[in-house]
Parts: sequence; structure tokens; C-alpha cells
Amino acid sequence: MEKIKVIMDVDTGIDDAIAMCLALGNEKIDVLGFTTTYGNRPLNLTTENTLEILELIGRTDVPVAVGAHKPIIKEYNAPAFSVVHGYDGLGDMENPLPNPVTKPLDISAVEFMARKLRESDTPVTLVPVGPMTNVATLILTHPELMDKIEQVVLMGGTTMKGNASAVAEANIITDPEAAHILFKSGLKIKMAGLDATWKGYIGFDEMDDFAAQNWLTKTIHSMCGIYAEHYRDRMKNPGMAMHDSLTIAWLINPDVVKAEDYYVTVDIDGRYTYGMTVTDVNNVLGKPANASVAMGVDREPFIQLIYDAMAKLAAEKQ
Ligand code: RIB
Ligand code: CA
Repeated sequence: MEKIKVIMDVDTGIDDAIAMCLALGNEKIDVLGFTTTYGNRPLNLTTENTLEILELIGRTDVPVAVGAHKPIIKEYNAPAFSVVHGYDGLGDMENPLPNPVTKPLDISAVEFMARKLRESDTPVTLVPVGPMTNVATLILTHPELMDKIEQVVLMGGTTMKGNASAVAEANIITDPEAAHILFKSGLKIKMAGLDATWKGYIGFDEMDDFAAQNWLTKTIHSMCGIYAEHYRDRMKNPGMAMHDSLTIAWLINPDVVKAEDYYVTVDIDGRYTYGMTVTDVNNVLGKPANASVAMGVDREPFIQLIYDAMAKLAAEKQ
């Protein structure tokens, strides 16, 4: 079975870390590397966190390349403390992971992506799960490599309810111009947005069972205090949303995602709708669909993929 070649672009935070484990713990995925971006936390923290997760699971063989520190146009003002991911981006654990000893590559995220696309004999899937700045920059600076991109499976967007404004999702609104470039690029896009990812959760009643699985789920569980509180107390969600993991799960088992093809564009000048992924669900505009949009998820088989990946990684690093 040919593996799916993937480059994940992460702003490692809690759900990015879990998605990294899903990608590295499933035999259908061949992770060529991780590129880092600002987003949940400033670039230095998201990069450190990415390296720390790879050291935690014993996968420092996978390269990391550092990307954008800010959006293309907007300013980036990270809060001192993220109510979702904590100050350090991995839940401010009582016993945090040790500072990383490994280093990122000395080439940029975009140059890493370009090299991997040039080297690969088959097209590569890009999986951005933070602001789309790195992917947009790749599109703008390497048009000659677009046919080496199989598809872009992104975590971001929403057809209706936002989490960073009334109508916009965090990854998109953090750099709407970058997202606009991606949606206009003509690349094949799968949009794993909030319509589905909020429903793809580890239930609060499942947390103890999750922690009890193995040393890795226990460690990840200990990161999730702030994250769980956010989804329970502020978002009133039935569990912790595994936003970023749905991108990888969609690649592993497309049956876990219910998706529709729609025309999507990103509002880059609206006063109240800036950063909205405007989704033409009723095809009023008559434009051809440019994205497969996740509208639902088969939650249990989705979450089981995460459990299985964690179990594999935990056993490999015993
Ligand atoms: O809106 C959810 C997205 O924003 C996820 O990628 C999460 O990690 C944050 O980046
Ligand atoms: Ca993310």
C-alpha cells in the first residue's frame, strides 16, 4: 500500500500535538516533515513545542523547518496567555516537557516544502493546521511546483459559527489574506472546518479512559487541563475538539468525514465578516466548487484512530 506523503504545517498547541501523533502513528501516512508557524502561540513557542513533541515520542528523525512569524498583511499580537493552550502552548503542565535538545533545519519552512516537492517522485499533500501564511508564501514564490502538490487538507474555516469572531475561525482570521490566496489558487482543497471539528471530540466522560490507555495518552491528558476547561466552560462543547486531527483522519479513512463540495472564498475586507470563509452552500453564485468542506464526522471511529496511533507510538518508544 503506497503511503500518503504529507508535510504538516503546525502552530503547535494542544490539538496540533495530537494531530502530529496521529500522523506519525498511522502506517498510511508518510510524514516528510513539519513546518512551523506562529498562531496559537508565537513562533518560538510553537517551534519549541513541535520539537518537544517529537522528542517525547522518539521521532526526532522527522525534520522540522521554521516558517512565518507573522501574517502577510495583518499584525500578529499573541496574547500573553492563551485561554485554549496556556502560556507555553502545551497546557502549562505542572511538569512541562523538557526544553528541546534537537534543532530545526537551517532552511525556511517554504524552502523545505519546495525542496520536498522537487525531490518527491509523486505529489505531496500539504496539511496546514494553523494560519495559512507558509502555504500562501509557497504558492506565491513557487508557482512551478503547484503540480507537485496533491492537495491541501487544511484545518480552518466554518460555514457559519466562528470561534475567533462571530463568523470566522481562528486559523483563517489570523491571516485572511493568506487563506484567500490558497482558496483562489486552484489547488485541490479539503477544508476541515468547525462545522465538523467541533463534533470530533474526546468526551469529558472519556478523558479518564483516554489517560489510562498508555504512558503517551497519560502525558497528553496532563496537557489538556486548560484545553478541556475551554471546551467545557466557554465553548459548552460535549468534549475536547480534536480540530487538527480531522485533517489527517480524513486522509487515513475518508469515511469518517461527511463532506460537500462548495465554492468558498475568504472575506478580506469586511467590517464584521473579515476572515469569514464565505461558503456558497446553495450555489447561488453558480461558481464551480473549489473545496470539499467537512460538514460532519463519524466521531467514534475518528477518535479511535487517535487512540490507535497513540498506542502504536507508545509501544514503539517503550
Ligand atoms: O480553530 C481551531 C484551530 O486554531 C486549531 O488549528 C487550533 O490548533 C488553533 O490553531
Ligand atoms: Ca493548530
